[in-house]
Amino acid sequence: MKILVSGSSGTIGTHFLNAVSSDSFELWRLVRSHREGENMIFWDPQGGHVSDPSLLEGFDAVVHLSGENIIGRWTEEKKNSIRQSRVLSTRYLVDLFSGLQNPPKTFICASAIGYYGDRGEERLTERSAIGSGFFPDVCREWEEEANRASDLGVRVINLRTGVVLSPKGGILSSLLLPFKMGLGGVIGSGQQYLSWISIEDISRIIVYLLEHEEVKGPVNAVSPSPMTNRQFTTTLARILRRPAWFAVPAFAIRLFFGEMGRCTILAGSMVLPEKLLSSGYEFLYKDLDSALEDIVLE
Ligand SMILES: NC(=O)c1ccc[n+]([C@@H]2O[C@H](COP(=O)([O-])OP(=O)(O)OC[C@H]3O[C@@H](n4cnc5c(N)ncnc54)[C@H](OP(=O)(O)O)[C@@H]3O)[C@@H](O)[C@H]2O)c1
Repeated sequence: MKILVSGSSGTIGTHFLNAVSSDSFELWRLVRSHREGENMIFWDPQGGHVSDPSLLEGFDAVVHLSGENIIGRWTEEKKNSIRQSRVLSTRYLVDLFSGLQNPPKTFICASAIGYYGDRGEERLTERSAIGSGFFPDVCREWEEEANRASDLGVRVINLRTGVVLSPKGGILSSLLLPFKMGLGGVIGSGQQYLSWISIEDISRIIVYLLEHEEVKGPVNAVSPSPMTNRQFTTTLARILRRPAWFAVPAFAIRLFFGEMGRCTILAGSMVLPEKLLSSGYEFLYKDLDSALEDIVLE
């Protein structure tokens, strides 16, 4: 299977490319700047430029993982970059597909559980309504751009990814040091749900979706056991054998992180992988204990 991956230098892309076998897949990367290695196509996703559009002919699948990292203060400039890097890059890719004689058969486009917004204890599946606010709006526009590829006969998957647990990037890697120093603790009320997925499972899910042509549309890429922030804190501290007494009050998060803190760190959603489970995907890590033990103690 010949696959083109964008955002390949990110947390998910790096793991995915290392995890998949080059015996089964011919891997190509869509890159924004020069890198060492083979099978690369250069592009400027927001400026709308690719080194040679004909190189995009004949891929079995495109996995689109590009996007400005959402962590950081959401200034107007940062919000613009978060939106444009997802919406414009996806629009440009689909425009490129429309000019091909052989567009990809499958388009797996990253999306996020941020689609659902802050939803308390509501159980959310792919059939649930969208939330409200900046990031749900971004996810809606991002998915709409990806879905345009269906008109070309492409199988489109909107990969609504949960919080990826990896020692090499994202939330867990930033929490590890304070927790190891015994400075961990509950954030805000601790009642907000964290719908997580292990880095191993997200790569396996991408492979599974490439190989299962019957699955399409939105797919919640989350483990079957979302946890509250309090449960997550207790589990991580227990596995590291450290106390977690240093609670961080909500006002401090709002003060330091502003809108980003309010909409991500203090917000929560209990998202369930209904489509993956009903289609037969078997999770490597269904529960947080086993995932954290393998990730943190590796
Ligand atoms: N990790 C998570 O917990 C999580 C959760 C939900 C959704 N997602 C989504 O899944 C996708 C991949 O996640 P990730 O954790 O691998 O992200 P990441 O580590 O932040 O990497 C994203 C990649 O996108 C490219 N990129 C960065 N800034 C860009 C910009 N301004 N314009 C265009 N491309 C840019 C870079 O790749 P190149 O330099 O190679 O182009 C970067 O390595 C993202 O769209 C993210 O929103 C991730």
